[in-house]
Amino acid sequence: MCGDGILMEEFITQQEITKQYDIAAALKGETAGKRACVITFGCQQNEHDSQRIAGALQLCGYELTDDSSLADMIIINTCAIREHAEVRALSEAGQFKGRKQQNRSIKIGVCGCMAQQAHRREQIYKSYPYVDFIFGTDMHHRLPEIVQTVLNSKKRVSFITDKPHNEFGVISEGMPVCRDSKYKAWVPVMYGCNNFCTYCVVPYARGHERSRNSADVLAEVKGLVEQGYKDITLLGQNVNSYNGGCDFATLLTQCASFDGEYRMRFMTSHPKDASSALIDAIAQNEKIAKHFHLPVQSGSNRILKLMNRKYTREQYLEKAFEIKQKNPDISLTTDIIIGFPTETDEDFADTMSLVKQVGFDMIYTFIYSPRVGTVAAKMEGQIPKEVSNQRFKALSDMENDLAQELNYKFIGKKMRVLSDGISKNGTYCGRCTQNKIVNFDKPIPAGEFADVLIETVGSYQLNGKII
Ligand code: 5AD
Ligand code: SF4
Repeated sequence: MCGDGILMEEFITQQEITKQYDIAAALKGETAGKRACVITFGCQQNEHDSQRIAGALQLCGYELTDDSSLADMIIINTCAIREHAEVRALSEAGQFKGRKQQNRSIKIGVCGCMAQQAHRREQIYKSYPYVDFIFGTDMHHRLPEIVQTVLNSKKRVSFITDKPHNEFGVISEGMPVCRDSKYKAWVPVMYGCNNFCTYCVVPYARGHERSRNSADVLAEVKGLVEQGYKDITLLGQNVNSYNGGCDFATLLTQCASFDGEYRMRFMTSHPKDASSALIDAIAQNEKIAKHFHLPVQSGSNRILKLMNRKYTREQYLEKAFEIKQKNPDISLTTDIIIGFPTETDEDFADTMSLVKQVGFDMIYTFIYSPRVGTVAAKMEGQIPKEVSNQRFKALSDMENDLAQELNYKFIGKKMRVLSDGISKNGTYCGRCTQNKIVNFDKPIPAGEFADVLIETVGSYQLNGKII
């Protein structure tokens, strides 16, 4: 921090990164022949964090495994966005009690958004004595040091930044990333959030908004394209407030300027900040995917105000129509919270009517979950579960029909598809620029593009033949 509350980004120095590499190199004798497993809950940001954690563990000499029963080092990367995610992560941690009793040398760590919350840390200390270490969301670059401490300590250890929101959060460059795909990659452009939507735990768990330097982002994307990556997603809680040397529309356009066939995506935008420049950039650049995820959360102005979303239903509609008008074939998706405190039948009807008016290709619907420390958790008028469940079903039923109708326009069209190989149900599938699932009739190696003529459609998939 510098004077008068003006934020200085906390960039980790090259010296500190070199120190971590040295610690990792020194650990190799101790970790030889040992395996590590990272278990991930939550959003794309967490998935990417896990790839960084895996990269650092590999650097320390661990061999990575997906099978936790084979691992000597287990790290659970948790999510705190809703109670359900927390319960799942805690039950995962609980599974390791028996293993730890059988083999005390196994090390178990918990990180991510739950680890960042004081009440969850307390719970883990008390009720999960076999968890050896906890580290926070801005500690990934220090993993070699964390591993060294854990391996040499008989006590439980904790690496947590306990600072106010505006001072909490760092940016580190130069630590390895262990990507689990050879053709799809996440690239964070910014971390944290300053919006404080009243239901959301993210600003508390991930600190203040801070942007990577555009040169670092561009170098990473260029490197990925040269390695053959075909689908690259720029990540941030609110990419439109990116300020690492240029605005987000410029950054995205520059990322889409390298030679070769590939797609640039981004996630997520806040409606109050989604700019016309960004909407134009999508329309003008073939390499920028035709998909816009724009969380609306509610169609009721009263609820939007209580959520501290800082836009009205009318402003959202204007933005959505601008996106669709400038990009006729774009897929527009959203997040909606059902059962926010005091949500009436009229408020919910406003959400239903907004959904109808916009025509979303997909809605991620969540039942409101009170989060400790947030403003909404203290609000009166919490909505009974049964009411929320009914509203959830009504919205899903309507959206299933709307989404199918939107897909009819693709019948008879040739779509460029990036193959994902074979799906879990044994079909050949991939994704088009709209990020919709496309099923096709012949095997195409994962990571290769192919043209598919669409013959039939469902609500959330298109089906056709390779041409
Ligand atoms: N309860 C329910 N859904 C939530 N989200 C964020 N916080 C909560 C909460 N407390 C949803 C929002 C957000 C998405 C990532 O998760 O819709 O856009
Ligand atoms: Fe949470 Fe709102 Fe920030 Fe999104 S913009 S991460 S919903 S506080």
